[in-house]
Amino acid sequence: MNRIVVKTQDGEHTISRHIYGHFSEHLGRCIYGGFWVGDSPIPNTRGLRNDVVAALRRIKIPNLRWPGGCFADEYHWKDGIGPSAERPKMVNTHWGGVTEDNSFGTHEFLDLCGQLGCEPYICGNVGSGTVQELSQWVEYCNFDGISPMSNLRGKNGREKPWKVRFWGIGNENWGCGGAMTPEFYADNYRRYACYARAYGDTRLYKIACGPNTDDYNWTRVLMEKAGSAMHGLSLHYYTVPGEWSHKGSALNFTEAEWLITLRKASRMEELVRSHGAIMDEFDPKRKVGLVVDEWGTWYDVESGTNPGFLYQQNTLRDALVAGIHLNIFNNYAERIAMANIAQTLNVLQAVILTEGPKMILTPTYHVFDMYKVHQDAVKLPVFVESEILTYAGELPSISASASIDRDNRLHLSLTNADPRQEQQVKVELRGISLSASSVISGQVLTAESIGDHNDFDCPEAVKPADFKTVQIDRGGAIVTLPAKSVAVLEFS
Ligand code: AHR
Repeated sequence: MNRIVVKTQDGEHTISRHIYGHFSEHLGRCIYGGFWVGDSPIPNTRGLRNDVVAALRRIKIPNLRWPGGCFADEYHWKDGIGPSAERPKMVNTHWGGVTEDNSFGTHEFLDLCGQLGCEPYICGNVGSGTVQELSQWVEYCNFDGISPMSNLRGKNGREKPWKVRFWGIGNENWGCGGAMTPEFYADNYRRYACYARAYGDTRLYKIACGPNTDDYNWTRVLMEKAGSAMHGLSLHYYTVPGEWSHKGSALNFTEAEWLITLRKASRMEELVRSHGAIMDEFDPKRKVGLVVDEWGTWYDVESGTNPGFLYQQNTLRDALVAGIHLNIFNNYAERIAMANIAQTLNVLQAVILTEGPKMILTPTYHVFDMYKVHQDAVKLPVFVESEILTYAGELPSISASASIDRDNRLHLSLTNADPRQEQQVKVELRGISLSASSVISGQVLTAESIGDHNDFDCPEAVKPADFKTVQIDRGGAIVTLPAKSVAVLEFS
């Protein structure tokens, strides 16, 4: 039988709510048609879709990264302010070669974050922008007083600064953000970050472009040359079941592909551990946060859609990928300061899909909803002894993480990667003895088939249900996790 031990008295580190962050790029229908409908019959508040905002508020979205992605390093923020009709247009060369009319810019994004009740995370342009441009963007957003940029902000209708804390200094500068070497980028990071000033009481949290997947040399060079000048270092890793040239279908996949995908998702743990170990060498007090600001599945686009728009469906498999990642992030809370799933809406592993006025919540959305209980709770160390699945390479069936919140409620989240069998898990809450009077509740997400998903005809095919298969046994619990499922239990 699988076994989990939760060390209930060894809580030390808080799971930052920012681990549950999101990412929205000017890519396909993420912004336009996703968040932003402008002047439209679709119910909106100042151009922002009400249904989408309400759904994201429900999962307590803590932060939103914008405007990219690759788009960030060719975005010039001054093109996106002032009267909409007068804003210059540009070509979105990375994503479909479409014309970007800049109708969604800084004011619209920060209004969106205000409506969502989340913190903005703005990624600046290092690849093709200037130091002055980034410096002025910070001044425009944050300076409270008389200055060229705050005056311009006032002229555009906003007197008070927004006080944006999170700033990315470029994106993927090893690739689409300028094809730089780590040494060259580290020097540039220091220069751009130097002029991103703190105004008033707004302390900036500056995030350096970090490695792609397992580029450990990038991490080492960055930490060595610029570690003392950064607050966060990003990491990007996507779960791609096949090769980049043929990634595999989001909807039609075999059981072997299910397992390969989940195995690749689990690789996040090795990456976090190994990059974290290099960071520890230079930053033993763990002042620099690891910011996994792009993660999630990446499949072939749905047929008939623009290949540059990265639109893909989302099944129970994606829910498992999300559960596995979030467990890893919770378990490494002492180093991971933030994470952002790519991307919120209509792009890659989206939590929401829209089609005209319709909106559906994906299985991934439900995992974020179930796991929101971990936000700002204290991580509890978890020891997992799992059966190993061997259908297509080896993969532990069970992943888990646990936390205790301010009201002393203990949450345990679990995934069962086994596509065929339910799994029994013996749970020991070390330091707590469960009895017949203990209150245990929970939710579980599963479905008939591994490819089950929600669509616009059947929007609730995959949704959470109450989780009841838990029995008290000699002070602990025996949990029967259905095949292919994600569950969150509450002990109070
Ligand atoms: O999320 C899609 C793209 O993936 C981003 O623009 C880029 O940063 C990454 O390569």
